[in-house]
Amino acid sequence: MLFELDQVFYSRAGLEVLRGLSARLPSGASCLFGPSGSGKSTTLRLLNRLIDPDRGRVLYEGSPVEQRDVLELRREVCLVPQLPALIGGSVADNVAYGPRLSGHSFDSRAPLELAGLDASFAERPADRLSVGEQQRVMLARALALQPRVLLLDEPTAALDAAATAAVERTLADLRERTAISIVLVTHSEEQARRLADWVVRIDRGRTVAEGPAEQTIALEIAPEPSPQPAAEGERGRAR
Ligand SMILES: Nc1ncnc2c1ncn2[C@@H]1O[C@H](COP(=O)(O)OP(=O)(O)OP(=O)(O)O)[C@@H](O)[C@H]1O
Ligand SMILES: [Mg+2]
Repeated sequence: MLFELDQVFYSRAGLEVLRGLSARLPSGASCLFGPSGSGKSTTLRLLNRLIDPDRGRVLYEGSPVEQRDVLELRREVCLVPQLPALIGGSVADNVAYGPRLSGHSFDSRAPLELAGLDASFAERPADRLSVGEQQRVMLARALALQPRVLLLDEPTAALDAAATAAVERTLADLRERTAISIVLVTHSEEQARRLADWVVRIDRGRTVAEGPAEQTIALEIAPEPSPQPAAEGERGRAR
């Protein structure tokens, strides 16, 4: 199993964001799917230790994530955030940024091409790109680190239908051409179906279903039972 989360609790500002969440994410393309505020981004950030749980365990390939060197882990398990955050300079400067930090010269053409951007993008100023193009530069920047796993937080949330289709094609292509695993966050049922083999459905900080995409997405999720017994009047009406 690529990742396993076991009874994970995480609170912020007095709010229990994750409430004993357990999930398994196999290699290949998997997806965290659920409504806004359910804890998808929080769960994703646990996987490469951008945050640590208050309680519970996160395993990467069978070992607790905290046993790994954190910088090495983040290079291997690379998160692409929901909103593009490029540095000044050219597209090539952005893509080469990570590898150059470790003192290597770097050719940005291959990651750009994998991310669906042709070589003419390399010298374009990064601040004069559409959001969809920026999203793909973010992807190229992550690919330049030669990750084993990409964590993608709603990679098409800011895009229109055409740009969404282009990014989805890029991701499908990446799956065919590389062995990189993908964990995708989405609140779109259709996107989960199109891109993922395995789906973990999250609702109010817990896993409510997990399994092969087709079965899991089709499930009706019941509302949480009320902790209080029904009032006398309501029971009367139910009869
Ligand atoms: N650092 C934080 N401080 C306070 N509250 C937080 C923090 N991080 C997350 N939360 C809260 O935790 C809940 C889950 O947040 P999270 O970002 O994981 O949801 P999400 O499922 O990704 O939602 P969306 O689909 O809107 O991105 C939300 O109610 C959010 O306000
Ligand atoms: Mg989110």
